[in-house]
Amino acid sequence: MAILKILKYGDPILRQKAKEVSKISKKVRTLIENMIDTMYANNGVGLAAPQVGESLRIFVIDVSKDDEPYHPIVFVNPKIIKKEGAMCPKEGCLSFPEAFVQVRRYSEVKVKALDINGRPFVLEAKNGELLAYAIQHENDHLDGILFVDHARNIFDATEALKANNLPQLEDDKLLNEEALEELILQKEANSKSEER
Ligand code: NI
Repeated sequence: MAILKILKYGDPILRQKAKEVSKISKKVRTLIENMIDTMYANNGVGLAAPQVGESLRIFVIDVSKDDEPYHPIVFVNPKIIKKEGAMCPKEGCLSFPEAFVQVRRYSEVKVKALDINGRPFVLEAKNGELLAYAIQHENDHLDGILFVDHARNIFDATEALKANNLPQLEDDKLLNEEALEELILQKEANSKSEER
């Protein structure tokens, strides 16, 4: 068991596409256990292998509340097989200390992956719950995509990075999410008309 060093925004490894895991060897298993320890030691909701310098398709998530027992979920070679709906949660990332940015996400996802024993499983996260956007955030890390690339408001995101002495947004990495934005605007309009 070990607490690993977390790479910070600006490190090129965070922008690499991670490799598939071909075998859950003893080394991979130790890496996963250390990732879980590292996530808890840093009060994180999730952690992806590239964040600890291992460019492999692995992430861990625990969305249990403070008063609930630990419930880590391990995802090896994950694939998002369904995404629907829209939301705009405020997210942070252990590689971006203290910076929180509103991003565009799907509100429902279905993911297929292997567990720590190499057994396949399918998990569905609905209703815009934390698990739904945590899966998207961590899965992105495996493709070198960072949450700030999904920023809904570039000015706010720039401000958040600057306030926490982090490198600036990378303009060429910003994602074009017109369809998602359209859905978010529709949802906002609907909730406004319901309030009346
Ligand atoms: Ni992250």
